[in-house]
Amino acid sequence: MNVSHLRSALLLCCLIPLTPASICFGQARSAPVAAPTPPMGWNSWNHFASKVDDATVRASADALVSSGMKDAGYIYVNIDDTWEAPERDAQGRIQTNKKFPDMKALADYVHSKGLKLGIYSSPGDKTCAGYLGSLGHEEQDAQSYADWGIDYLKYDLCGFRKEMKAQGGGDDSAKSEQMMEDAYTKMHNAIVKTGRPMVLSMCQYGWGAVWRWGASVGGNLWRTTGDIQDKYASMANIGFGQAGLSRFAGPGHWNDPDTLEVGNGGMNREEYRTHMSLWAMLAAPLLAGNDLAKMTPETLSILTNKDVIAIDQDALGRQGDRVATEGPLEVWARPLANGDRAVAIFNREGRAMSYKADLKLAGVKSQAHLRDLWEDKDVVAANGEYMAVVPAHGVILLRAH
Ligand code: GLA
Repeated sequence: MNVSHLRSALLLCCLIPLTPASICFGQARSAPVAAPTPPMGWNSWNHFASKVDDATVRASADALVSSGMKDAGYIYVNIDDTWEAPERDAQGRIQTNKKFPDMKALADYVHSKGLKLGIYSSPGDKTCAGYLGSLGHEEQDAQSYADWGIDYLKYDLCGFRKEMKAQGGGDDSAKSEQMMEDAYTKMHNAIVKTGRPMVLSMCQYGWGAVWRWGASVGGNLWRTTGDIQDKYASMANIGFGQAGLSRFAGPGHWNDPDTLEVGNGGMNREEYRTHMSLWAMLAAPLLAGNDLAKMTPETLSILTNKDVIAIDQDALGRQGDRVATEGPLEVWARPLANGDRAVAIFNREGRAMSYKADLKLAGVKSQAHLRDLWEDKDVVAANGEYMAVVPAHGVILLRAH
């Protein structure tokens, strides 16, 4: 499928919201789709930021395996910003700094565990943390990643804003949008040229309504928002703010509301369950952002709830959306490949609230069998209405069969 065909398919999806994602993208492509379900794994930034090093990455890979997270589907081990040396070598090749003595050996180690390794760069001359970016070295950098055995690239706009400003484009202008499209296309093409499959994760904070064009420039996922913080207000603003974006996601091209904060300590159990449930309803990438080597059983149980992960990873790839609201109460629904529906009843209030959810609005048939996925028990509705008591900042997550 060439770029103009892909653009037409994208346009079709945007104009006709009910067009199945498989027609928009999946079946039209001849090569296997990269990221057929939202990527799952771990990213270093939320917990370690600039402290990430080779030992942290190895320990995280070990923990993914020993904790059972790998078996639950968490495969990518993603190094975020701060791995880059301050200077390129005489041939212009990007170098690692002393925190990462041998990236190829690290990739071999991660691969030996049956996992995949991700890395980070920027289309600008500098990354967000001020390290070297790929501007003017895109093909060389993609080739270095391929030589090391990298499987995933997060490409973060940051330093490129300077270029946009220099060309007279503000963050949200048409000129800037074109420049961003060109910059991401350039890196996508550079990756393709290496011959090594890599997931391309776009990070430009949702500017220029990236969900409309991210797939057409080769993105497998694109951040739709600014950075998440380990606080209920931040997570909720980002997560609930995704309403209306569902039709832009599908196999191989996902909206990305940022990495998970589960286990970092800033939210309570109900809030982290909301975080995980909302991301699953959104078909969002599930990239844990905590210290995997030091997880509580509660954190692990939230991250590895197999029924919740099954919703996130559902093969149909249809992102859920909001179907009803009443003040702080929101009902979201998501159609699943086997005809089931996922239904989430969220309470954004800081105290428990009761709510009678009309399941018809979520597309649930009146005779459907209902399972509460966090309580792990069957529940019943009366005349298509489910009477829920939803904890403060909490969620009731149902699968209707
Ligand atoms: C930006 C991104 C974050 C993270 C940092 C690293 O803020 O949005 O996800 O990658 O840069 O510097």
